[in-house]
Amino acid sequence: MSLPEPPSASPPGASRVILALETSCDETAAAVVRDGREVLSSVVSSQVDLHARFGGVVPELAGRAHLELIVPVVREALERAGMLDDDGRPVAPSAVAATVGPGLVGSLLVGVSAAKALAMAFSVPFVGVNHLEGHLYAALLEDPALELPAVVLLVSGGHTLLVEMVAVGRYRLLGGTVDDAAGEAFDKVSRFLGLGYPGGPAVEAAARSGDPEAISFTRPMLAEGLAMSFSGLKTAVVHHVRAHPEVATSDVAASFQAAVADVLVAKTLRAAASTGARSLCLAGGVAANSLLRARAKADGEAAGLHVFLPSRAMCTDNAAMIAAAAFVRLERDGPSPLSLGAEAAMAFPVSPAP
Ligand code: KG4
Ligand code: ZN
Repeated sequence: MSLPEPPSASPPGASRVILALETSCDETAAAVVRDGREVLSSVVSSQVDLHARFGGVVPELAGRAHLELIVPVVREALERAGMLDDDGRPVAPSAVAATVGPGLVGSLLVGVSAAKALAMAFSVPFVGVNHLEGHLYAALLEDPALELPAVVLLVSGGHTLLVEMVAVGRYRLLGGTVDDAAGEAFDKVSRFLGLGYPGGPAVEAAARSGDPEAISFTRPMLAEGLAMSFSGLKTAVVHHVRAHPEVATSDVAASFQAAVADVLVAKTLRAAASTGARSLCLAGGVAANSLLRARAKADGEAAGLHVFLPSRAMCTDNAAMIAAAAFVRLERDGPSPLSLGAEAAMAFPVSPAP
């Protein structure tokens, strides 16, 4: 069966209201954003409680929960954006977007299928968005005057990347982790210390009463380059605790967190210096970490950079950032074909050379 051709995008200059869906991991999210900048609504329903007792995201459960949540979450996003008429019927947006990857395939498929169905029902374009590209727009959504080029440190549960945002819609991948993502290291250390899931906030809470200088953990690959590694640091934590069972958990958490922040901030400043970037931004779930935020702000400003820290809600997974990325995609590349599928291992979308 051949699918209908996507409707063409609206004429240039017209205002575009994009409804976006984000279901790549364990948050079911929908948002309505006007012209890639103005957030009319952003609804995030977290499944943290569902997965907490298993110590991590259970893909099968995540997919089922997205299925149950997607319709009420989309409805609420439309309602909060004032897009339900007096009879409760939705008003058509200009386009419907969804995260197509990377992520858990069973979770992605829920958002992608729902977005395609809505696009067909409304007779508007469908736009597939790369989740990582979405995270880059968190800063621009909250600070439209952000000076580019900017170096963005994208630190989430699945990825740790340094990206140069050369201009809106143009990115250059500068470096990243060669093994575990920073968030993954937080999650694994948290599980090992018995602090629970999700690991980042749990380690941060435990670190509050600890001494960051109690244990001098390795700062892997700190000396040069823009590559990072966090798997050795996690192993160092395990070895230290096994060798010193009397050590205070709070000291381990604080010392580990300090090591991660040291590496991330040093690499980000090196990236900024090597590109001549004017601004520095954080993105992704780990960017909610208070120590990382404070260090990035202080050291970035000392290096003469404008530092922008998106709100914590914008750092973690949400659909407003997906709508903002979709706006740029739609302007530049037009609608995505309805045959576009979900792709679990989708790579970061490096722009072609200008
Ligand atoms: O971006 P995100 O919400 O989802 C992914 O795309 O992965 O990031 C989730 C990750 C998890 O690994 C979580 O432990 C981490 O972000 N995280 C934190 C904090 N809050 C969330 N890591 C350190 N400190 C935090 N406060
Ligand atoms: Zn994410």
